[in-house]
Parts: sequence; C-alpha cells; structure tokens
Amino acid sequence: MSIVVNPASRPDQWMAAMAAELPEEDLFLWPQVGASGSVEYVLAWEMTIEDLTDFPNLKAVFSLGAGVDQWMGLAEHPELGSVDVVRLVDPAMSDQMAAYALHWVLHYQRGFDQVAGLKQQRQFKPPSQTDGSDYTVGILGHGNIGRRVSQAFIDLGYPINAWTRSGGRGHPDPSVTHFIGSEQLDDFLAASRAVVNVLPNTDETLGLLDRKRLAAFAPGSVFINMGRGTVVKETDLLNALDDGPLRAAVLDVTDPEPPPSASALFEHPKVVLTGHCAGMTVVSTASRVIADNIRRLRRGEAAFPLLDPERGY
Ligand code: GLV
Repeated sequence: MSIVVNPASRPDQWMAAMAAELPEEDLFLWPQVGASGSVEYVLAWEMTIEDLTDFPNLKAVFSLGAGVDQWMGLAEHPELGSVDVVRLVDPAMSDQMAAYALHWVLHYQRGFDQVAGLKQQRQFKPPSQTDGSDYTVGILGHGNIGRRVSQAFIDLGYPINAWTRSGGRGHPDPSVTHFIGSEQLDDFLAASRAVVNVLPNTDETLGLLDRKRLAAFAPGSVFINMGRGTVVKETDLLNALDDGPLRAAVLDVTDPEPPPSASALFEHPKVVLTGHCAGMTVVSTASRVIADNIRRLRRGEAAFPLLDPERGY
C-alpha cells in the first residue's frame, strides 16, 4: 500500500522528509501515483474530488496546512467512501503565528507606526505608547493556535480576553478572561484594544464581524486577521477604518484571496497586507507530526485530530 505526497510547494523537501520518517513506506510524488488501487493515504494542501476518486482504497487525506476549509466538500461525495481528513496541528506553526501576532500588536501598542513620521520631521523622540499591562489583547478563537498566541502575550504581561463560540474544549484557562457565544461577543470586542482573529472559515464564522460587531470594537483598537478573510466583508472593514472605531487592520488573509488588484485594501493607509505568511507549514516538524499519525494508523490506532464536517474544522 502506498502514500501520495502532493505539497503546494517544496516537493523535494517534503519527499526527503517523509522518506526519512517512513523509510518502509512506498511514497510517490504527485502526479506520480504508482498503482492507483494501492494508494491508502494522500498528503496534500488541496486536491480535486476527481483526482481523489481515482484511488478506490483511499483511507485518509492529511492536510498540509492548519486550515481545512479546502477539504470541507469531501463529506458531500459518497462515491469517495469513508475518507478521513487528518488536520495538521504543528506547534511550530502555532509558534510562528504567536510571533506574528506579537509583532503587530507591539507595533501599534508601542507606537512604532509613528516612528517613520517622527524621523521625517527630524525628531529623535519616543512615539506615544500605552502601557502593556493596560493593553488587553483579545483572541478570537481559543483552540491550539489561539492558546499558543495567548501564552505569548501572557508571558509578557498583557491581559488576555479569549472568545470562543461554545466555551472551547477542556478546562477554562484561569489566566485569561473568557467570553462565550454571540451574546458575549460585543463585550469581548469592546474590552479588547487589539483583536487577533484565528477562527477557521465555517458557516458560523462567515461574516461574524458584521457592521454591528465592528461598531462594538473599542475606539482606537486594532484588528489583526490571521484566521480566514471570510470573517469580515471588505466594505464593512473599510467602513470601520474610515468612519468607525478601528485604528488599523493587519490582514494576513482576505476574501477573496488574493484581493483583486482594484481592491481598496491596496491603497488604504490604515491597512497592512502580509500575503498569508503568518503561519507557514514547517516541513521538518510537520512531516514528523504526519508520520507519527501514519505510524499510529499502521498500528491500528486512530489518527488525530480528524476534521469534523459537522463542526466545520
Ligand atoms: C494557513 O492558513 C494554513 O491553513 O496552513
């Protein structure tokens, strides 16, 4: 039985890393597949249903990114049989996202957005900034990634608000202030100076930050989106920057993505665009996480975590 590896980038690195982890497995680099009836597992960022249905004995797809919205359609194709989608939860990726969030929150909280202007005026003086211990950072979504982001700020003394749709899994974290469900979302937004979104794209998060929600942000607050662009409509966001409470928006993700070249996001002075780089899959660590799961499956154990089509991630 064999494994097809179909990464969006760095194919040679992926093949070398998987071969080192799983020397006993037959690995094929897409579009080579060997005997299609032998293919049991596919590792890919995304792949069409037509291509997957060529593998009659396919058991599982391993996502090569943290997001899984590209795999949601699988559940609607009974001709595929029962194929699990194994999500990629790699602490190295969460570390990168925590670093990204720290960078941008500090940029605004410490007033680094003003230093270029001061230099232009030939002034050598510190920018105006707020005290970190008074600067509450709100994390929208508190799963593996959200908790890692929280911890990075907690370690530096920032108060944390965490919003989850249904209270999250596991025990509440006593070091953060929890807000749960749509009834508490406005309070969460109003009590946060920077809001960092790490929510996935699901039916529930689509357009979650509508005009009314955007109006609930604290005056002068910053929105940092490294979840999915679908959480907010571009026009609503621009409106909240021009006539609403937002001081700035840092967008690693957009909807559509990439934005069309005529998009107003490109010229808006309060918008920073970073081109979907907040959490890049790290081949050396992700290959280990995936190989551990394949070894589990080979021992007859379950791989985890699996995409739950009902929940949407
Ligand atoms: C990036 O957004 C990913 O899903 O890995």
